[in-house]
Amino acid sequence: MSLVEMPGAQLPAVGAVLELTVGEVAAGGCCAARQEPGGPVIFVRHALPGERVRVRVTQATSRLARADAIEIRQASPDRVAPPCPHARPGGCGGCDWQHASLPAQRSLKAEVIRQQMRRIAGLDCAVTVESLEGDDDTGGNTGNVGDGDGAAGDGGAAGDDRAAGDGSAAGDGSAADGGSAAGLGWRTRVRFAVRHDGRTGLRKHRSHDIIDVGACPIAHPLVTETAVTRRRWPGAKSVEVLVAVASGERAVVVTGPPARWNSGARPAAQAIGADTVLAAGTTGRLVSLRGRGYLTEGAAGRSWRVSAGTFWQVHPAAADALAAAVLGMLAPLPGDRALDLYCGAGLFAGVLADAVGPDGGVVGVEENAAAVRDARHNLRATPWAQVHRGDVAAVLAQGGLSGASLAVLDPPRTGLPRAVIDLLRGVPGAGTDAGGTGAAGAGAASTDGDRTAGGLRRIAYVSCDPATLARDLVAFRAAGWRLAELRAFDAFPMTHHVECLAALVPDVGNPDAAAPVAGAPAAPAAETEKAG
Ligand SMILES: C[S@@+](CC[C@H](N)C(=O)[O-])C[C@H]1O[C@@H](n2cnc3c(N)ncnc32)[C@H](O)[C@@H]1O
Repeated sequence: MSLVEMPGAQLPAVGAVLELTVGEVAAGGCCAARQEPGGPVIFVRHALPGERVRVRVTQATSRLARADAIEIRQASPDRVAPPCPHARPGGCGGCDWQHASLPAQRSLKAEVIRQQMRRIAGLDCAVTVESLEGDDDTGGNTGNVGDGDGAAGDGGAAGDDRAAGDGSAAGDGSAADGGSAAGLGWRTRVRFAVRHDGRTGLRKHRSHDIIDVGACPIAHPLVTETAVTRRRWPGAKSVEVLVAVASGERAVVVTGPPARWNSGARPAAQAIGADTVLAAGTTGRLVSLRGRGYLTEGAAGRSWRVSAGTFWQVHPAAADALAAAVLGMLAPLPGDRALDLYCGAGLFAGVLADAVGPDGGVVGVEENAAAVRDARHNLRATPWAQVHRGDVAAVLAQGGLSGASLAVLDPPRTGLPRAVIDLLRGVPGAGTDAGGTGAAGAGAASTDGDRTAGGLRRIAYVSCDPATLARDLVAFRAAGWRLAELRAFDAFPMTHHVECLAALVPDVGNPDAAAPVAGAPAAPAAETEKAG
């Protein structure tokens, strides 16, 4: 959706109520609409494409406006009643699509991915967003609301826009009671904000306001069982609950100036039903008040130590699904050498280590100290897998590609620095040791003789932001790589977030390059670069 205004086009004022026909879905959990053809874009939440709605304008800048659908005049067949009473205009912002059936949510996310790939990367690729285990279409919010009954209500919603570590919504516990309804009861990490009166809640959309919540329907039942929202946490800034479904372990992390929350929230922290309780002071360093400070997660048929400050996928089925998908994309062979960049607790390094065996090697790179300790612990049984602590670009610049022929990249949502893409390519002067005497000291010969200067024959790129993925695909293309396959997973049902997985192969001199791959761009010839 272009944000270019037509000359003389007027943006509505905040508070104005308009009637609109809703256009296509847009990034961020809203749909685009215009008052008149060619007019400025109004991004509407709580609506679905094709609906006729009344909206109230919530924000207007010089370029665009935002609005909430407050009455649905003509409903989409995809509309359902939101399972959470707080998922409405003026309510919690943790969820974006509770008013859409799960299949429709996945279609909306697929369309956003398609848009980003086309607009940013100039790639024409259709993608199917796959549901994760437990979120199939036989349960959850699949019941349609019917036509034009104002299902969007008159409230509002809110959230913190972060896919991974925190945030979430609130509700009446309808799903959290069992946690089995599709699309609900999945969120294993929830960060509650604390109000001045010590009560916890979740934030409104694009607001610092904190909504008093009971149980959150998308939170895992183990999160709800800690009853964090039923206690007072005076002086604390936030209270985060992290649970591991495989082991049933629970951790609570309290943040805020220690002097303030020590006298107020400490009783709640001491009474809370969690295996581990940690406090993060002003420096962010976690101090253990109770327990061993980490959870035992399960994925890929084994257990993983994951400290409270270490990244782990939030959906209980996501780590498993992504590990299997990465293995499927990279197709590692015994003796292969692989990189796991941004390795966290070593999930991908671990499954790759098993696949390449002792004749191969895996090098993980991670900058978070706790995650590095976890990864080293998790990789103890496969000593041919090593972990380097540091910034990925710095480690690659210093140590090169370690003779690797495969790489998995899983950066934060900001995507890859250009330097990393250049280093993967083996750009002269970028510090790469393409000969393979690098960080792991591996340097073994590749199993295929036809590789790029960097030596990699295939990359799997895991991304929680299709926009930065698309941007990076442009840089990869300039560096001689092409998109061979694109998959996507609904790892965050009810929200606009989605996890993508892209396979990249060298565009020249690689046997893979000649063969079409499932899910690959339909028209590589149309890969002309387009701005924004
Ligand atoms: C999305 S997480 C992926 C973790 C892991 N692959 C997994 O699936 O559990 C990104 C990881 O990159 C790490 N990280 C962020 N910036 C980094 C950098 N510049 N260099 C190295 N690691 C970084 C974070 O600490 C985090 O563990």
